[in-house]
Amino acid sequence: MQNGFSKESLQKYARNSRAEFEKILGEIVAIPTVSSESPRKGEVRRGADFAVGLLESFGAKAKLYETKGHPMVYGRFDRGESFPTVTVYNHLDVQPAETPDWKTPSFQFVKQGDKYFGRGTTDDKGPAMTALFGARYAFQNGAPVNIHLLWELEEEIGSPHFEETIKAQANDFATDSVVVSDTVWVSRSRPAQPAGLRGLQGFRFTIKTGETDQHSGTAVGAARNPVTEICQLIAECVDGKTGRVKIPGFYADVVPPSKKDLEDLKNCGFTVKDFKHDHLYKKLRVEDPLEVMKRIWMMPTFEVHGIAGGYQGERIKTIIPPKATAIVSCRLVPNMNPRKIVKLVTDFVKSRNPDVKVWTEHALPAYQGKTTGPYADAIRGAIAFAFGKEPVFVREGGSIGAVLSMEKVFKAPVFFLGLSLPEHGYHAPNENFDWGQASGGMVAFAKYFENVGGLARAKA
Ligand code: BES
Ligand code: MN
Ligand code: MN
Repeated sequence: MQNGFSKESLQKYARNSRAEFEKILGEIVAIPTVSSESPRKGEVRRGADFAVGLLESFGAKAKLYETKGHPMVYGRFDRGESFPTVTVYNHLDVQPAETPDWKTPSFQFVKQGDKYFGRGTTDDKGPAMTALFGARYAFQNGAPVNIHLLWELEEEIGSPHFEETIKAQANDFATDSVVVSDTVWVSRSRPAQPAGLRGLQGFRFTIKTGETDQHSGTAVGAARNPVTEICQLIAECVDGKTGRVKIPGFYADVVPPSKKDLEDLKNCGFTVKDFKHDHLYKKLRVEDPLEVMKRIWMMPTFEVHGIAGGYQGERIKTIIPPKATAIVSCRLVPNMNPRKIVKLVTDFVKSRNPDVKVWTEHALPAYQGKTTGPYADAIRGAIAFAFGKEPVFVREGGSIGAVLSMEKVFKAPVFFLGLSLPEHGYHAPNENFDWGQASGGMVAFAKYFENVGGLARAKA
């Protein structure tokens, strides 16, 4: 592939596409596709309809697939049956965006220099649009490959209907390989090639010890307090200061990092200083870089996302509340079984407080991928070509439900070509993406599509 797409022509294409890219990203960010909020159901569908129209306007064949929940969108740039197919996965649903900490309106696309603000700009609408622009270039300039784009709208709720939908219509989605663009680099100067993702098991713990608020002056001392009981339970599950999970057996299936894993971590360019800066932390549980990396990428966790119950208003109101809830999740690592964790946690909670009800939420096993072989080399080559830097091997701490399902149903290998940066603020207020990542991403994707086409031809 020596005389393939030149860097100059690709960079020129990206430059010339900038206004169009910003217009389209702006339009899609303005549709609040929050999959977890049921009143937004219509907006999620509007996002899917917009995406279908967009794909068609780019010259792709596009189709909306119904699921039992939010729809899914599939676009195809087909070269012909004798060519290999590469499928790009992104998600177009986003996290909620409570407004207080936002400096700009959360569902408005705001451009400040090279930065683009708004919910979904980096997770994952910006990378999705970037891949689309790369695909159009590759297709129009003869890359020997069919490029398919698969856009989910239920990723942020754990992909509950993804697998059954692709399974039911497996012929439509047949592909030779998948590239997922929904992960984070180590830093702007350190592109990452993730070797895996953590899994996730979500829980809600609820307890009810009364019927209504009661004046604490009349009942306190004898009445049970559900908020206190939930807090005690949580403290029995996990050490709040160290994060060490206290549930017996929790770590039993964790495979310790290999020598190679540790080497990769040491060489990946991660610094605690940047990590703190990007995530706005002053102090961490641990400050040793290797220990921080192990904790965010390779170890399982038990964390509380929120506790609800009791008085939340001004000053103080001396009631005893009747009920309380804790929202909890465990990040899982390869070899851990979500069902086993559910049983472990549920049995433990019951043994400590039989009145607490345990509800399970998203269940995603961890994913271990490949970083060797021709596809992985092609990803590395495309990133180095576009950004002038070889990606480093890392693992990702987050979870993407669709990844395992695609590997299983498509029987095709899955790779990652993410474009987000730590400072872009995944799920945070003031989420943003930027033109550097978008323009480089277009170049990287176009090159990758070309390389993947060449690969399969060489193999044939
Ligand atoms: N893009 C993230 C996954 C991710 C996070 C990859 C951090 C790499 C680093 C994805 O959109 C996400 O947020 N997933 C959720 C899934 C959950 C809600 C079921 C997650 O990881 O919490
Ligand atoms: Mn994402
Ligand atoms: Mn996300």
